[in-house]
Amino acid sequence: MLASKQIESLFLEEESYPSLIKYMGSKSKIMGFVMEGINEVYRGGAICDLFSGSASLSGAIGQQCLVHSNDIQNYSSVLANTYNLAYLESGVPTSTELIEQAQIIVKKHKKSLGINISYDQKFSIEKFNEYEEIQRNILNKQFKRDWHLFVKNYSGTWWSAEQCLWIDAIREVAEQYKNKPYYPVILSSLMFAMAYSSQGTGHYAQFRDAKTESSFSDILIYRKRSIVAYFGRKYNEIVEWLPTYKPTFKHKFTALDFKSCLDKFQGGLVYADPPYCFVHYSRFYHALETLVLYDYPTLQVQKGKVVKGRYREERHQSPFCIKTKVKGAFEDLFLGIKNSNSALVMSYSNTGMISINEVESIAARIFKNRKIDILKTDHKHMTLGRQKDRHRNVKECLFLVSQE
Ligand SMILES: C[S@@+](CC[C@H](N)C(=O)[O-])C[C@H]1O[C@@H](n2cnc3c(N)ncnc32)[C@H](O)[C@@H]1O
Repeated sequence: MLASKQIESLFLEEESYPSLIKYMGSKSKIMGFVMEGINEVYRGGAICDLFSGSASLSGAIGQQCLVHSNDIQNYSSVLANTYNLAYLESGVPTSTELIEQAQIIVKKHKKSLGINISYDQKFSIEKFNEYEEIQRNILNKQFKRDWHLFVKNYSGTWWSAEQCLWIDAIREVAEQYKNKPYYPVILSSLMFAMAYSSQGTGHYAQFRDAKTESSFSDILIYRKRSIVAYFGRKYNEIVEWLPTYKPTFKHKFTALDFKSCLDKFQGGLVYADPPYCFVHYSRFYHALETLVLYDYPTLQVQKGKVVKGRYREERHQSPFCIKTKVKGAFEDLFLGIKNSNSALVMSYSNTGMISINEVESIAARIFKNRKIDILKTDHKHMTLGRQKDRHRNVKECLFLVSQE
């Protein structure tokens, strides 16, 4: 990481930062392109990352200027906190210390759960599915103790019951460090471990069933993965990267709707990276939101049954993902930018909910006398399925609108 800088720089460079989660639409792979756009119109002041998602922009520039990171999903603030609020303080626990504390909790509860499956043995698909069913029965069990949310909600879905026990245990241990500057590091490392041991396809919309030999052997790979190993590795990597001093800039972190966030932001530059397509982030990443809030949410029900994806009942529906609302959403976005007197850099692609031309004409109508430029680059989008079509070629665009 760069040494502490006291002075705000007008030319921003991409810094290196640890990656934390797999995220649809993350700009980490094209951060150079985003920075090129930002440097075209940035004239100093704070930068608002209005739809911060995996907080990649915070990681890339947080040492050089004040960043206001915002996203409607709460997990995004935790990720941004990891990049821009966390620092090393004396007494920071090692990964081994955290894991040892979690191990005590897991040992205590594993017995009472009555599940002891070794995924290292040879399995037939039938036997494997029998074990899956036994674990899914836990979803109907009532618990009297605290810190059982993942075991109760997700055993035998994206994770095995034992992986869920570890997620709950590490989450419980994390809470002891709630007021410490490295608290978000523990949660982010756990999000990383959850992502790399999940049997889903890079998100949490649907878990897979072992219906064929090939899906069975693929799911088995993830059932064998150790939450602890992934957690420990990422935690060590982040701790190594963290500064030993309190961050220089007074960065801001909010979990607001973009319109409310823009009401509070003045001057500077807004980087807007709204959703491009019809899938709601609140559906794809509900398990991360639940990990962070740990609020035992009511699950969405359809025809009297909890839906397979086990989504939170109360979840955000973004107007950028809804055909009848997307134009209005862009109008609101541009009006908010105009009223906040900020420059704008906005990402969108030629496969978005509305065409680049339509977005351009809304921008031209609202920004009237302001200069609007569009930068384009070729990019491969992850399709987030483990099928043949894993990447799709698209044109990534940056709309650049200078300050008045
Ligand atoms: C394309 S992603 C952003 C990716 C991010 N730039 C990155 O590099 O990870 C879009 C984000 O917009 C957020 N979002 C959707 N609707 C929103 C709204 N109404 N207000 C604020 N954030 C919203 C989603 O939660 C999602 O994280």
